[in-house]
Amino acid sequence: MKHHLQLPIFQVISDTAAALNVQAYVIGGYVRDIFLNRPSKDIDFLIIGNGIEFAEQVAKRLGKHVNVSVFRNFGTAMLHYQGLEIEFVGARKESYRNDSRKPVVENGSLQDDQNRRDFSINAMAISLNKVDYGRLIDPFDGMEDLKRKIIRTPLDPGITYSDDPLRMMRAIRFATQLNFRIDAPSLEAISANKERITIVSKERITEELNKIILSEKPSIGFELLFDTGLLKLIFPLMHELHGVETINGKSHKDNFYHTLQVLDNICEATDDLWLRWAAILHDIAKPPTKRFEPEHGWTFHGHEDRGARMVPKIFRDLRLPQNEKMKFVQKMVALHLRPIVLAQSTVTDSAVRRLLFEAGDDIDALMTLCSADITTKNEYKVRKYKNNFELVKTKLIEVEEKDRLRNWQPPVDGNHIMEAFGLAAGKEVGLIKNAIREAILEGEIPNSYEEAHAFMLQKGMELGLKQKK
Ligand code: CTP
Repeated sequence: MKHHLQLPIFQVISDTAAALNVQAYVIGGYVRDIFLNRPSKDIDFLIIGNGIEFAEQVAKRLGKHVNVSVFRNFGTAMLHYQGLEIEFVGARKESYRNDSRKPVVENGSLQDDQNRRDFSINAMAISLNKVDYGRLIDPFDGMEDLKRKIIRTPLDPGITYSDDPLRMMRAIRFATQLNFRIDAPSLEAISANKERITIVSKERITEELNKIILSEKPSIGFELLFDTGLLKLIFPLMHELHGVETINGKSHKDNFYHTLQVLDNICEATDDLWLRWAAILHDIAKPPTKRFEPEHGWTFHGHEDRGARMVPKIFRDLRLPQNEKMKFVQKMVALHLRPIVLAQSTVTDSAVRRLLFEAGDDIDALMTLCSADITTKNEYKVRKYKNNFELVKTKLIEVEEKDRLRNWQPPVDGNHIMEAFGLAAGKEVGLIKNAIREAILEGEIPNSYEEAHAFMLQKGMELGLKQKK
């Protein structure tokens, strides 16, 4: 065990504990991650005594440049040292009230503190005391659970989850990140206590949701959220994607499982949180746009535009940012059908130019989303789509090289038009501007100043305008 405690900070803590005659342990996520071989920069130290005083003594030993941040309300203190985020906490015994995640806290022993932790794998401690330096104290068999890949609570799960309902999200998040199984009593307790998630702040819920989304296979987490009933409470619109309806023997696909497949697919291609969110939301408006048309079967007309319009409120409700990240997701949702529609017909230059114009620099992200969206089990269709898709990609590169349409600005702008005809800003300027843009995108004229200028003069004449001399 000692070789895991090589960093100089452990020796400093051990010496401080001896000098102050208190006991100190490293505990929680850092211990778990040692055995999982996951490097971690956050270390939690448990002091049987006053964590804040202890932290101040440690800082003194480390030198002048180390500052301690004290959180008296929580009885914790934190400092940064050699790129590590180090937290000190006094051992606690806690009891919880029904209406809040904030516990009533008393001083406690190591065992009291381990009892109140969330999972057996997060309750392990390593002694930093001189008598038994490096000894693992693992009262709930966390090591065995690490080997068997199980998430289990130290106490009765009903108590652990009801005490702090955020732990329901954490259980599912760890199961997803580590690819562990949540043991049956825990899963039952989560389902039974699901309503208590409503006392947890939206920010914290979304923080866990984002960690699930950033895992290798987020569908594990979303299926657990669905099966326990949490998804319906924290993200009802996604829950609504679930289910299959059949009319006249025709069924549509289950959009929840389709979305999860698209999400897992995209995770193989990108680590970008926002592109992963775009995968989650790409079909979010399928339930409200669903129709059965006897001659066509199930249709979801306009779900891409309606979905894009839903994005700001979804982001607001989940406390996700209202900035360019949100705009990016919106754009992806709005355009997600475009490359595949292109791939299904003859791929003309003008259709490719239009797509490039609308997607701009996000064209690669859009192509990634669109590839991930091909989830049909029909081998023939997959091959056909993929081949056409490659064609679209080649065309995109060709057209981009030829016309440079990414972040394109037309070669003749509004000012130029006003200047040429001595016009004030108004309807005519807009008309001419649009006509020039359309002519270039349709390939009627090349993307050059001379051609655009000549085209502008001709359009102006058609509108009865006179060129300024
Ligand atoms: N903990 C808990 N209940 C919570 C949050 C945390 O019992 N709701 C305890 C666990 O022992 C956990 C430790 O506090 O290991 C540290 O919590 P945190 O830093 O949030 O998580 P980690 O387990 O370190 O994991 P990660 O860094 O992946 O979030």
